[in-house]
Amino acid sequence: MPLSSQLRHLLLPALAAAALLLPPAAHAREAAAPARLAKVVILATGGTIAGAGADAASSATYQAAKVPVEKLVAGIPELKNLAEVRGEQVFQIASESFTNEHLLQLGRRVAELSASADVDGIVITHGTDTLEETAFFLNLVIRSDKPVVVVGSMRPGTALSADGALNLYDAVAVAASSDARGKGVLVTMNDEIHSGRDVSKAVNIRPDAFRSPWGPLGMVVEGKPYWFRLPAKRHTLNSEFDIARIQSLAPVEIAYGYGNVSDTAYKAFAAAGAKAIIHAGTGNGSVSNRVVPGLQALRAQGVHIVRSSRVDGGGFVLRNAEQPDDKYDWVAAHDLNPQKARILAAVALTTTSDSRELQRIFWEY
Ligand code: DGL
Repeated sequence: MPLSSQLRHLLLPALAAAALLLPPAAHAREAAAPARLAKVVILATGGTIAGAGADAASSATYQAAKVPVEKLVAGIPELKNLAEVRGEQVFQIASESFTNEHLLQLGRRVAELSASADVDGIVITHGTDTLEETAFFLNLVIRSDKPVVVVGSMRPGTALSADGALNLYDAVAVAASSDARGKGVLVTMNDEIHSGRDVSKAVNIRPDAFRSPWGPLGMVVEGKPYWFRLPAKRHTLNSEFDIARIQSLAPVEIAYGYGNVSDTAYKAFAAAGAKAIIHAGTGNGSVSNRVVPGLQALRAQGVHIVRSSRVDGGGFVLRNAEQPDDKYDWVAAHDLNPQKARILAAVALTTTSDSRELQRIFWEY
């Protein structure tokens, strides 16, 4: 029997008042419950972020790769507000000394951790000199959409205005963020979030050292990532490469183009076993007419020639523009600088030695 309108009129306000006094409904309680903190592993490899100088004024004079990961983490208690963090010391080296074997060992550990249900994100502390190469390599071979964030610093932690602590705090914030999933390997430096594919070290002695020719993907401010762009090229889960299927990386070398250049370096690299040579050419990857005959001979021996450019920061090498790539069976490196082109060529050569396939790979990654 429906309530009379008079009785309903009396009861409803009393019921509404009573509801306000009740504890929140179960679903509201769940919504209010603090979410579990993400589990983030910091893999430390060395570099300036682990560096130490003699005094606070020594911002550029210091020894890299001195401070252990436990001390880096202990030095930033605020990390506990961002994630459940644990550290592993994978290497303790300056990154100019990285080898292909270091890349493979680090990649295997990242793959193992990213496959673990007990890991939500990974941070890699790294020297800045070759950070861009490691970040690109992992972007190509780690088959996971979990955040992998590579971070370094331009000043040691002992210096005035050291940048490492905030860079590392930002890296953990990004690695702990579900929004960072599926964006490929990332690099946090100087408040910015960059794609591991695009970013490179453009300045060798200031905190604003890292630049991406097509711009950063976002920023981190007070532990919160803000996103403005997405990567355009294939990476991680959408890559055809997999660290699990890579036993070794072929030797790929880089030769610089400049006035008065000869083919000596290219021939020496080939004689030492290089499977591909990255030409860091002038302008649009141009090749001196003094060098072309030597490169044709090397190509005939099966050595690949990949044309990149010594001009870094915002253009790309165009196939068959000034240089007849089809005629000489060369590969154009697109927008990748020479050091990035070396990484992609080495990874690509683990699956093919066909120059047309190599060119496809350089367009797509
Ligand atoms: N030796 C350099 C390196 O380990 C130091 C530069 C840095 O980490 O900022 O990459």
